[in-house]
Amino acid sequence: GAPVKVNVGKIEPGQQIVAEWRGKPVFIVRRTEEILANLVKLEGAVADPESKASEQPTYVDPKVRSIKPELLIVEGLCTHLGCAPSFRPEVAPADLGAEWVGGYFCPCHGSRYDLAGRVYKAQPAPLNLPVPPHTYESDDVIIVG
Ligand code: FES
Repeated sequence: GAPVKVNVGKIEPGQQIVAEWRGKPVFIVRRTEEILANLVKLEGAVADPESKASEQPTYVDPKVRSIKPELLIVEGLCTHLGCAPSFRPEVAPADLGAEWVGGYFCPCHGSRYDLAGRVYKAQPAPLNLPVPPHTYESDDVIIVG
């Protein structure tokens, strides 16, 4: 598949857009300071905090899994059996519990990921959501692929 150009300039803080690359959804989230602070707190709760086992380009910061901390870019397919995880940025929703600080929830078998696409420990999904190859053409435009 050809590389895909995506304008990320209009994503509101805490919100997500979904692009498509090679027939796969690509989740792009503008992370807030609060979300980034939560990633640090979750290091002990996720299976592979620095994504040593998961697919991600060497040029992303392993701690936040992105080039720029504020912009998360991950493939939107659960690493268990390939369902699309739901974007659930809210804190402590009734159905996900008081511990939930926002992330992705896979409706198929319940795998949970944080807002770096890192899977929590002891989930059906074995790996973090892959980070696709991407570059910045400008502050507001990324090229995926
Ligand atoms: Fe996501 Fe099974 S496909 S938990």
